[in-house]
Amino acid sequence: MQITKIAVLGGTGFVGSALVHRLSNAGYIVNVITRRRENAKHLILLPNLQVTEFDIFGTVPLNEAVKGSDAVINLVGILHESKTLSFNDVHAEFPRRLAEACKLLSIKRLIHLSALKADPEAPSAYLRSKYAGENALGGFSDQLNVTILRPSVIFGRGDGFLNLFAKLIKLLPVVFLAMPHSKFQPIYVEDIANVILLSIDNVDTFGQSYDLGGPKVYSLIELVNLTAKTLHVKRTVIGLNGQLSYLQALFLEMLPVKLMTRDNINSMKVDSVTNKEFPLIFEFQPTSLESTMSEFLLNDRPRASYDRFRELAGR
Ligand SMILES: NC(=O)c1ccc[n+]([C@@H]2O[C@H](COP(=O)([O-])OP(=O)(O)OC[C@H]3O[C@@H](n4cnc5c(N)ncnc54)[C@H](OP(=O)(O)O)[C@@H]3O)[C@@H](O)[C@H]2O)c1
Repeated sequence: MQITKIAVLGGTGFVGSALVHRLSNAGYIVNVITRRRENAKHLILLPNLQVTEFDIFGTVPLNEAVKGSDAVINLVGILHESKTLSFNDVHAEFPRRLAEACKLLSIKRLIHLSALKADPEAPSAYLRSKYAGENALGGFSDQLNVTILRPSVIFGRGDGFLNLFAKLIKLLPVVFLAMPHSKFQPIYVEDIANVILLSIDNVDTFGQSYDLGGPKVYSLIELVNLTAKTLHVKRTVIGLNGQLSYLQALFLEMLPVKLMTRDNINSMKVDSVTNKEFPLIFEFQPTSLESTMSEFLLNDRPRASYDRFRELAGR
C-alpha cells in the first residue's frame, strides 16, 4: 500500500520538528498531533501540514486523531514523571492503545521511538517503561508492521541535553557534575529523522528493532568539557560520586522546573552505548558531534540571528 498521509504523535518536540520538516519536504501529508495547536506554530507554514489537538488523557478519542492516516509515528515521551503523568501511562500504555487504534482502523504501519538500553531489568523506571512499550507493541506483530528505534541520547539544534549543559556552563563558574563517567553515544537528530523517513515504506525494516548510536562514545564529563570548549569558555568541572549525584538530584527534584531526577541518575547507571554497527540498511553513516556542535550551540550560521528575533517576539 502506498503511504501518503502520516500522523506524527509528538511531532512538535525536538525529534518531531526535525522529522516533520523532512516528511513535508518529501511530499507526505503530515498530521501533527499535539496537546495544543500553539505548540505546532513553528511548523504551521510547512506545505501539506495539518494539526490535530489530542491529549493522551483528554476526551478526544485516539481513533479520531489518527483516522485517515496510512502510517503512524509515535514520538510521545517524557523524561520526568509528574503527579498526573506516569512513565507507564506515556511509554507503555499509550503505545499499546495506539497500536490497538491502528489495528481497528487498519493502519498497518507504525514506527515507535523507544530508547537504547530499555530493558525489564533496567535500573530506572524510565528505561523499564520504555521496554514495556516495546513489549506491548510486540503483541501486535501479526497485525501491524512495526519498527522500533532505540537511540542513545540525541543531539542537535534545540536538544535538551547539550543545550542544558551549555546554559549551566554560561551561568556557573564551577559545574558539579553528577555521574561524570556515564557513557553515551550521541546521535544527531537529523540522522534519526532520516532513519524514520527511510524506514517508512522499506519492508525490510518491518518487524525490526534498531539500536542507534553515533560514531563515537563519550563519558558525560567529556561531553561537558567539549561543550565548554565549543563555547570558548574555561570551566572547572567537578565530577560527583554516586552518593553526591543522588543528593544533587534529590535537591533538583524540589525545584519547580525539573532539571534532573534520581530516576535520571538511575538511567545513567547503564552506559547508553551499543556494540552494534549503525544499521547498513539505511545506507548512510551517522554524523559526528564535533562537525555540528558549534553550529547549534553557537548558532553559527548566517540566518541564526532570525531565530533570536523570533524567540524575542515569542514566535
Ligand atoms: N531526546 C533524546 O535524547 C531521546 C533519546 C532517546 C529516546 N528519545 C525518545 O524520543 C521521543 C522524542 O523525544 P524528544 O526529545 O523529541 O522529546 P520532546 O521534545 O520532549 O517531545 C515529546 C513530545 O511528546 C508529546 N507529549 C508529551 N506528553 C503528551 C501527552 N500527554 N499527550 C500527547 N502528547 C504528549 C509532546 O507533544 P505536545 O507538547 O505537542 O503535546 C512533545 O512533542 C520520546 O519518546 C523520547 O523518549 C529521546
